[in-house]
Amino acid sequence: MTKKIILFGLLFLLAVIALLYFFFSDGNRTTTEKKVTQVQNEVYQRGEQLFENNCSSCHYKGMDKVMTAPALGGVTKRRDKRWLYRYTRNSIGMYKSGDSIAKQLRSENWGLMPSFPQLNNTALEAIYYFVEQRYEMTQKGIPVKE
Ligand code: HEC
Repeated sequence: MTKKIILFGLLFLLAVIALLYFFFSDGNRTTTEKKVTQVQNEVYQRGEQLFENNCSSCHYKGMDKVMTAPALGGVTKRRDKRWLYRYTRNSIGMYKSGDSIAKQLRSENWGLMPSFPQLNNTALEAIYYFVEQRYEMTQKGIPVKE
């Protein structure tokens, strides 16, 4: 009889430990996921702000329509990251130095894109993160807030 009680006691304890384990490991996972989304949201918002201040007068915020400048959706896949950052900071210099893509863009008869030497890597990462996220949202049919 006492043996049975001890056995049941042990089994019960094991079950409790297993439950606690699942509960906490699951809990930890969701906290990490929450933190990741929070950071992503912050980057998105910073990117959106920078985009509105510097780019949206010429590039459409929904990223899929041509305004006075080309649509930027998918640009991080079309272009190499180093090229993108250099171009955003110094498009005019790149055109003058004979960069083939800059020359190609000029030949499509757009107006000239100004240079943004003040945008550091963190700012550009945020801007291009926003560009691609916003483009995905547009493709899913989520309208642009003006
Ligand atoms: C005054 C208008 C204007 C503003 C503001 C502007 N652009 Fe542009 N952008 C252009 C034009 C016009 C082109 C086409 C290339 C050219 O003729 O210089 C272009 C081209 C580009 C390209 C190359 C696209 C491709 O297909 O390779 C990128 C990338 C780009 N712009 C990013 C930006 C970002 C990021 C900002 C804000 C920080 C910005 N632009 C602000 C006018 C603008």
